[in-house]
Amino acid sequence: MPLIAVLPGDGIGPEVTTQARRVLEALDLGLTFEEAPVGGAAYMVSGRPLPEETLALAKRADAVLFGAIGDPRFEGLERRLRPEAALLGIRRELGLFANIRPATLFPALANASTLKPEVVAGLDIVVVRELTGDVYFGEKGHRQNAEGLRQGFDVMSYDEAEVERIAIVGFEMARRRKKKLCSVDKANVLETSQLWRDVVNETSLQYPDIALTHMYVDNAAMQLVRRPTDFDVIVTGNLFGDILSDQASMCAGSIGMLPSASLRAWSGDNGMYEPIHGSAPDIAGQGKANPCAAILSAAMLLRHSLNDEASAQRIEKAVSAALDKGARTADLGGSLSTQAMGDAVLAELV
Ligand code: NAD
Ligand code: IPM
Ligand code: MN
Repeated sequence: MPLIAVLPGDGIGPEVTTQARRVLEALDLGLTFEEAPVGGAAYMVSGRPLPEETLALAKRADAVLFGAIGDPRFEGLERRLRPEAALLGIRRELGLFANIRPATLFPALANASTLKPEVVAGLDIVVVRELTGDVYFGEKGHRQNAEGLRQGFDVMSYDEAEVERIAIVGFEMARRRKKKLCSVDKANVLETSQLWRDVVNETSLQYPDIALTHMYVDNAAMQLVRRPTDFDVIVTGNLFGDILSDQASMCAGSIGMLPSASLRAWSGDNGMYEPIHGSAPDIAGQGKANPCAAILSAAMLLRHSLNDEASAQRIEKAVSAALDKGARTADLGGSLSTQAMGDAVLAELV
């Protein structure tokens, strides 16, 4: 019986994860669930955002269903004690270097985006974001510079192996789709990006069937709102991928719609699955959060870690059908609660 580690986290994390778990349970796949605290919730009970037992559970499980972390009350703590350290720690400790963030517009949501419906119609992008390197994991700190001024620093770097393995994920993803890969970097300014671009080009020799383009990240941000449907697969570094995926989410109607998979192998391994959004302190505890990103993350879990494409599609079709019938949380212009949105999806599961 596959074991799913459920790490609800903070803010709206538990609210949306509850709905995702309900959907998984309703499929009756014989899954077992074990829950553990993470982030601010774990800090409250143990003084650490990522207790050893939580990490051990994540490692032992066949897949991890993650909610969200982040709590304004802990922003002043030293960095290793903040909720975010737990998420970064799990990614690093499990070696989850490949973050797959699909931005797909469900047809019923064409009017939910702040962009014109004709601009987003047919949107179907995948952002492949590198997740265990870049400026996120380099040396960082505060120091005094030569003028005696306080200075903060974060070192950005990638080695060629790190770039090659994520480039391969991008090419493989493109091969299964429209065979278009856009690598996003800032090679006009950054040496990290120059190496990135060189290695992506070298890797492309193994993928003559894929049309590879390169784009600077500033231009990519602009093109994502100008003609988002021109993109198929985007492969990019940790920082740029973080930013561009939040932006892409609005093309799909709401950040509350975007799931993700964090993987350490192309498929079939114990990945982590989570919405791309955070703990949303501004709406936490009010039952307003859209659970679709979490529910769709559960679908990705079935697809990538349990090799159950049929069940993944059952979930995705149920979300689509619920939206077709007009089910909408507030972020989509409706008034359903988190729970009622979960009910609406459950009602469409066939
Ligand atoms: P956020 O994604 O939490 O929220 C941004 C905005 O989107 C807010 O207005 C929020 O209400 C809205 N929103 C997000 N998810 C929603 C949903 N499911 N339904 C409806 N509306 C939704 O980003 P933030 O406000 O910049 O960060 C809040 C905290 O979350 C911070 O502590 C941050 O570090 C953390 N964070 C965690 C993750 C994660 O756990 N993966 C991701 C991003 C941010
Ligand atoms: C995300 C989040 C995280 C990130 C933070 C909370 C560490 O924004 O998962 O997108 O920057 O990766
Ligand atoms: Mn983010």
